[in-house]
Amino acid sequence: MQSPQSSRADAVRVLADRYAAARGPLLPILHAVQHEFGCIERGDIMTIADALNLSIADVHGVVSFYADLRTTPPPPHTIAVCRGEACQAVGGQALHTEAATVFAARDDVEVTEVFCLGNCALGPSATVDGRLRGLADLAWLERECAGWVR
Ligand code: FES
Repeated sequence: MQSPQSSRADAVRVLADRYAAARGPLLPILHAVQHEFGCIERGDIMTIADALNLSIADVHGVVSFYADLRTTPPPPHTIAVCRGEACQAVGGQALHTEAATVFAARDDVEVTEVFCLGNCALGPSATVDGRLRGLADLAWLERECAGWVR
């Protein structure tokens, strides 16, 4: 019987092999692993590095560079507040600070910052579990999150 670690390593290897021959395979592989497992663990990085004949540092560097790639499992809920230029001009930074403060004590919610959701004309923009909202404010965030069970 395989250990959970070896079955995950095998699955990561299959994903790596699927994209290995493509041009620029690292990011597609990392996205595929994150899609499959929710995050990219250290063992995944080692497997991917081996599959692509890269150093572990090379792969880790890419994983740590992109904010969308995560090394820990995601919480049940995510709030992303835009702090791009257009949203920042209409209160995006303040909304991010307020949301981070209000939800700081909840381990089921992660408040992150993003730098443009493609909704600049209706800033400040935010997403709650991937649902986009323009003209977002703290009251909307709290209403959206009110039904979440802790
Ligand atoms: S700057 Fe916020 S959506 Fe573009």
